Amino acid sequence: MRAPDGANGRCGAPSAEARQALYEQTLAGIGALIATERDEIAVLATVVAELHHGLAHFHWTGFYRVVAPGLLKIGPYQGTQGCLSIPFERGVCGAAARSGRTQRVDDVHRVPDHIACSASTRSEIVVPVFDRGGSVRAVLDVDSDFPTAFDDTDQQGLERLCASLQAVYD
Ligand code: SME
Repeated sequence: MRAPDGANGRCGAPSAEARQALYEQTLAGIGALIATERDEIAVLATVVAELHHGLAHFHWTGFYRVVAPGLLKIGPYQGTQGCLSIPFERGVCGAAARSGRTQRVDDVHRVPDHIACSASTRSEIVVPVFDRGGSVRAVLDVDSDFPTAFDDTDQQGLERLCASLQAVYD
């Protein structure tokens, strides 16, 4: 059977070309929507709504916020219920928050520390959000029901987006 337009046929995620175009379009839209907004929740909620509905391989899209030293709490998200609290020492989100580095997991079943909020999740990417002082203030967590759903285009696009959120923490 022919793969749907824009899909690579392997896992249902968009082709490299389609993905790049989707990021350009989605990030431009988000940039316009939040350009003058400084309220954290207004910005984070808008970002997740636009990402979640703009990118078809995103099946859970949300932020976890650093609310105390070493502790993440759920922020705005789209998808089924996510766990409310994640200490820095746990899970893929905790790894991103404590290391300050993007975590990309091609197969969550191979990562014993992965916290399963949904049984259908197969791959995940978590990108830290920094303030201007270089402290991690939140992480953007995206889960996909497709294995190996996230590639360099996703990572670069989401890192660029998260870097643009610094002003919210001024
Ligand atoms: N999988 C994450 C937990 C958050 S849920 O995916 C929404 C983790 O391992 O940190």
